[in-house]
Amino acid sequence: MSVSITPLTEHTGAEVHGVDLRKPLDDATHEALNQAFVDRHVLVIRDQEFTPEDFKTAAQVFGMLQPHDKKARHLPGYPDVYFVSNDEFVNGRRIIPGETFHTDHSNHPAPPKATTLFAVQLPSRGGDTQYVNMHRAYEELPDQTKQRIDHLKAVHVYISKYSPRPLGAIDEDSVRALPPPGVHPIVHTHRDNGRKALFLNPVRMESIVGMPDQEALALIDQLMQHATQERYEYRHQWRTGDMVIWDNRSVMHQANPDYDMAERRFLYRLMLKGAPLV
Ligand code: OGA
Ligand code: MN
Repeated sequence: MSVSITPLTEHTGAEVHGVDLRKPLDDATHEALNQAFVDRHVLVIRDQEFTPEDFKTAAQVFGMLQPHDKKARHLPGYPDVYFVSNDEFVNGRRIIPGETFHTDHSNHPAPPKATTLFAVQLPSRGGDTQYVNMHRAYEELPDQTKQRIDHLKAVHVYISKYSPRPLGAIDEDSVRALPPPGVHPIVHTHRDNGRKALFLNPVRMESIVGMPDQEALALIDQLMQHATQERYEYRHQWRTGDMVIWDNRSVMHQANPDYDMAERRFLYRLMLKGAPLV
């Protein structure tokens, strides 16, 4: 089998062809995929055919599975396989998971290094996922801003009182199982590629340590506006059979609710364990 790995934009994303992740990989392919993950931040692995078990096997090519926080929500019969779909309602209002730019499970002291989705059913148009490169965004900040933020830490909770959107319902057992808040640097150094990156998540950032909230909110807003510019983006247009895996240490992402909600959008979802950010 010959695997091909092709960049999708100059800075973010690579498309992978010629690999079947249900089957054991040779060492060279295993290494090439993991290196591409670290260098390109988002991998789009085409033409996969997965059962939920296969998807778990495929995800573990890149690391160890990280349980998700909402314990009640999973594929029937697979408590460790989560899913994303457009048919969840809270208080009569449809919840589109991931609808504003964010970083997954950043409320954890050791946030997941990766998240992966497998596209099972897609709307006929729309429903792209956007990714922005937080290394590039950091690197292109004015020096003065870098100096201001280089040593700041933020407190990330399950849902911030300042979150721009509601999250899906979480049950009592899941609340009890939540870890203590994550306190993360706003600028961290990626353990595997050595580059600095911004680490932001308005859904969960509750405060910046030592800063009045109004000042912190203005700063986060300014950094978000900078980081979500189109020039930092790879926008993924889904095809059935895509497995997309992204590095939460390198990108933020958002879902798009721009399609006909009578059509179903359904993807399997897994996360991989990470380490505290440095
Ligand atoms: C997620 C997420 C985006 C999407 O699964 O963490 O944000 O486009 N998904 O479904
Ligand atoms: Mn997400």
